[in-house]
Amino acid sequence: MTSQTIAAAAAGTWQLGDLTVNRVGFGAMRLPQTGEALIPGAVPRDRDQAISVLRRAVELGVNLIDTAAFYFSPLRSANELINRALAPYPDDLVIATKVGPGRDPSGHWLPHATLEQLRGQVEENLRQLGRDHLDVVNLRIVGTDSIAERFGALAELRDAGLIRHLGISNVTPAHLAEARAVAPVVCVQNAYGLGMRPDQDDFVRSCGDQGVAFVPFYAIAATHGQAGASEDDAPEVVAAARAHGVSPAQIRIAWTLHRGRHVLAIPGTGDRGHLADNVAAGGLRLSEDELAVLEAAHRRAS
Ligand SMILES: NC(=O)c1ccc[n+]([C@@H]2O[C@H](COP(=O)([O-])OP(=O)(O)OC[C@H]3O[C@@H](n4cnc5c(N)ncnc54)[C@H](OP(=O)(O)O)[C@@H]3O)[C@@H](O)[C@H]2O)c1
Repeated sequence: MTSQTIAAAAAGTWQLGDLTVNRVGFGAMRLPQTGEALIPGAVPRDRDQAISVLRRAVELGVNLIDTAAFYFSPLRSANELINRALAPYPDDLVIATKVGPGRDPSGHWLPHATLEQLRGQVEENLRQLGRDHLDVVNLRIVGTDSIAERFGALAELRDAGLIRHLGISNVTPAHLAEARAVAPVVCVQNAYGLGMRPDQDDFVRSCGDQGVAFVPFYAIAATHGQAGASEDDAPEVVAAARAHGVSPAQIRIAWTLHRGRHVLAIPGTGDRGHLADNVAAGGLRLSEDELAVLEAAHRRAS
């Protein structure tokens, strides 16, 4: 099978509550612009190109798309692109969004939303996506304050039928315990990847023990973050890529998926070739020896 034909189901599925998703999904943060994401004055991406990436993702079996109302450039919004490309939405498509600190219309970050503003952000996502409920909403936080009140506000919207399932993002194990005391949590979304945040390893495992999906962001970009992937990679990653005849990015995704059945991938790209490679990475199997070598590279970052 070529990279073009391997579908997102190759790595199996996971249940987000009552919603079944293929473990390789898609992150929409790269779509509104080329170059660095989340900066004021970013260069808008060609609309047709972004739409064609989204449609191709669904053709390849992707049924989990991660987005946010604050993923926008001066002329494009990720949610608008998703709506334009995919509505009427396939029945099995799960769209996960996030609320928390937003960005003002010029693209500068705002402080954390008030409880009332959280509701407004949920409604903004509903309007932009053209839906009457949101499949998954992550409460994204900055800092270490208690999340009980904010998560409680989202739990009320869940009870009201505006949200089906809740997740949390940029959080600690203590936050997860706090949130779970309020309402069920289906996923944790934190920065994590090969050589990035090995201090998260125990948390990744413990999410699995609790039946909660761990959804890492920056699995490819790693420490380069919102600036995007680097041309250089660790020698161990490059060697594994050569051995399999794939790219370092694909090894990074495969490594992520090998961390546990509950670990999902949401690689972001605006490139159809990269998209096909990322989906195909779900079919890569790394040997115990390869995993041991990559583990050493991962640990070196600590
Ligand atoms: N909760 C949060 O706070 C948070 C924060 C950040 C991101 N996220 C979510 O997580 C998703 C993933 O993060 P991300 O998009 O920043 O990072 P990523 O998936 O780790 O990497 C994206 C970068 O890698 C490049 N890339 C993708 N596939 C590639 C391939 N096969 N070969 C070579 N380069 C490749 C992309 O450039 P090209 O476009 O050129 O392919 C882009 O520069 C986001 O899209 C977003 O949905 C959440």
